Amino acid sequence: MTSAHAAPTVSAPPAATPYGTLPPASTPSARKPMSLPRLREMHAQGEKITMLTAYDATFAAVADAAGVECILVGDSLGMVCQGLTSTVGVTLEAMRHHTECVANGLRRSHGVAWLIGDLPFGSYHASREQALRSAVTLMQAGAHMVKLEGGGWTTETVRFLVERGIPVCAHLGLTPQTVHALGGYRVQGKTDESAALLRREASALQDAGASMLVLEMVPASVSAEVTALLTHCPTIGIGAGNGTAGQVLVLHDMLGMNLGKMPKFVRNFMDGDGTQSSSIRGAMEAYVRAVKDGSFPVNSAHAW
Ligand code: KIV
Repeated sequence: MTSAHAAPTVSAPPAATPYGTLPPASTPSARKPMSLPRLREMHAQGEKITMLTAYDATFAAVADAAGVECILVGDSLGMVCQGLTSTVGVTLEAMRHHTECVANGLRRSHGVAWLIGDLPFGSYHASREQALRSAVTLMQAGAHMVKLEGGGWTTETVRFLVERGIPVCAHLGLTPQTVHALGGYRVQGKTDESAALLRREASALQDAGASMLVLEMVPASVSAEVTALLTHCPTIGIGAGNGTAGQVLVLHDMLGMNLGKMPKFVRNFMDGDGTQSSSIRGAMEAYVRAVKDGSFPVNSAHAW
């Protein structure tokens, strides 16, 4: 006689989850998990690195299945998930939560993507020790690497984290956490002086051990120079032209989920610039293909 409360037998197949998002019983991917050595290899071989933001389990799993190599849990979640007007209000707890959601999604779907957690405004500014505590929070939530914005004073913070076994992605050019100090979302590095400063800061960050550098809204010629200068730190561009070692876009932008003015550097991969996809996964695959074959971004259309 069976009881309604009998425990399931151990040999029972995993129950399908409702709300059909992830394949918990999927077979492990044939692809090797991304790692720092693999990213270095891609950089050395000139293969473009693809990155998208994701903030939850399902989008992360789909991006991974589409072949996106790096998933950034960006503090852009303040805008696209929380409805804030800038990233300034995003907390470490919010970043921890979303990093954990993404890590869970990748784990359940046997994903292989490299997971980067963004350190939010105020979580690494007070001291190197504060930065370490914040970075540990995101690493323990499942990140493989943390990202922080700015050059100059951040160099020693990067060194401190790297020496303690935390891979770091730096971020120069337009740094949205300092939007108020910069006077708005403007292209950076346009003058000879500011371009020279950007080159110096990028070199110092590489020397401090940063193993990736996001360049945001920087003239294409300047980001190409920085990319050539950094022999062992791939640059990942957003609004920085096609001369970088890889590209990143905010998920909602590349899916056309933007009711305002689309930034110049974005292509809508669902339905824009000649790209037509009937599914989100298809749009992500089109993005990966376009970055890899160099057809996105186009300097004359998406850069300065
Ligand atoms: O927060 C974010 O999504 C980012 C990308 C725009 C690079 O920092």
